[in-house]
Amino acid sequence: MAQDDVFKKVVAHCKEYGFVFPSSDIYDGLGAVYDYGQMGVELKNNIKTYWWQSMVLLHDNIVGIDSAIFMHPTIWKASGHVDAFNDPLIDNRDSKKRYRADVLIEEQIAKYDEKIEKEVAKAAKRFGESFDREMFCQTNPKVLAEKAKRDALHERFSVAMNNVDLEELRQIILDEEIVCPISGTRNWTEVRQFNLMFSTEMGSTADGAMKVYLRPETAQGIFVNYLNVQKTGRMRIPFGIAQIGKAFRNEIVARQFIFRMREFEQMEMQFFVQPGKEMEWFEHWKQFRLKWHKALGFGDDKYRYHDHEKLAHYANAATDIEFKMPFGFKEVEGIHSRTDFDLSQHEKYCGKNIKYFDPELNESYTPYVIETSIGVDRMFLSVMCAAYTEEALANGESRVVLKLPAALAPVKLAVLPLVKKDGLPEKAREIMNELKFSFNCYYEEKDSIGKRYRRMDAIGTPYCVTVDHQTLEDNMVTLRDRDTMEQKRVAIADLRELLQDKVSITSVLKKLS
Ligand code: GAP
Repeated sequence: MAQDDVFKKVVAHCKEYGFVFPSSDIYDGLGAVYDYGQMGVELKNNIKTYWWQSMVLLHDNIVGIDSAIFMHPTIWKASGHVDAFNDPLIDNRDSKKRYRADVLIEEQIAKYDEKIEKEVAKAAKRFGESFDREMFCQTNPKVLAEKAKRDALHERFSVAMNNVDLEELRQIILDEEIVCPISGTRNWTEVRQFNLMFSTEMGSTADGAMKVYLRPETAQGIFVNYLNVQKTGRMRIPFGIAQIGKAFRNEIVARQFIFRMREFEQMEMQFFVQPGKEMEWFEHWKQFRLKWHKALGFGDDKYRYHDHEKLAHYANAATDIEFKMPFGFKEVEGIHSRTDFDLSQHEKYCGKNIKYFDPELNESYTPYVIETSIGVDRMFLSVMCAAYTEEALANGESRVVLKLPAALAPVKLAVLPLVKKDGLPEKAREIMNELKFSFNCYYEEKDSIGKRYRRMDAIGTPYCVTVDHQTLEDNMVTLRDRDTMEQKRVAIADLRELLQDKVSITSVLKKLS
């Protein structure tokens, strides 16, 4: 199936099965804002629990906080977001559509990559088992030509972005003959900077009101609380503070469903270290975070690092963990070495001493910070894309199954009476009432058992139990496995022990230690 089609199907599936709805749906939606439905909220909560526990539970030197969304406006001046949190925008005069200039160029670079991949795929097919990808890429004239164009463009783009050279960005768009996807023309305006922060006013009277921002990242809430936490928690460096919360960005290029939203959620952890030790910790967190992703079992080839050439104003090293979405490898998480930039800036702007006193060194210093920052919604999208599977069955039928890791699945166990009579619903309810304290169970009695299995496959329920007439006699049920579709008889009394480990987040967490 073409990857475009896969993505469309995932989006449709999310709506049809109660995972994600457009916000304000009955008013035709609101651009790049989405609501999570009854299944989506469970999956999202499980992702957040997995992250939280992997950080706070598994590390005795990491604690969590929950800071407010509204913060003193000077924080955003100090952090650089008022002056430097900008996107370069360009308009097409014919379609009147606005684009991010950097995104247009990145898409052009991706087109060169696609051309190279096509050549490689063709050759791999032609040569079969004996195909040597590395050798082919180093010698094939077509690949070398595309690669040279790609690398030259990439270099020019990096320099323009690093120098914030807006004219050069426009020139690249013209030279590469990039057209507007709507009008198909190259009638572009100048490139302008646009700040991504939403602002509002706090206070009732016009003269007394204060302009405040909706936070564009949760990280600053951690920075401004670092000393509160360090002192009250008697934390010693190195230590980390984790937080999950909403962030807001007035994104111009808001597309690809929940990949780029205007209201989204982040899971961020700032790890405070002694200056000079930041690269060691940067490496450590790079490794740990990739392991966290891979532990979900979607396949190691789905992930890759992307080291940044253009560094954010606060970083001295940065890498992304990218996931293979149906629309290419895309950033899901960023790991940044943020130096002492933020803390030093806050110290300067608030006028207070916020240095850490190191009892081992007997000196005060401003800690350096390694940040791990992952978007909940992007993670959610990556999980949905990886899990969505269409399968042809032996009987000629087909099924859609969400092969979610059991630990993340919204529903762990469906309890299904074979028929709606003869005391089977009552028996099924009895099982539900027993197991609902251990994991999320779902009761359903409507439709044939085959249809109910399909519905459970579609929301990713790893196990179903069917209660039949025999159950009333021997207290055994049929346990069905979502992925293999195998069925076996098990005693009701054994269900909890049989499933608990398989569906718990602990089972994934154990892979990390
Ligand atoms: N505190 C650092 C920071 O915010 P970032 O790379 O801008 O860094 C971190 O964002 C993560 O937040 C990204 O890797 C992505 O998963 C998520 N994210 C950023 N902007 C987003 C958006 N508009 N919609 C959804 N997720 C977004």
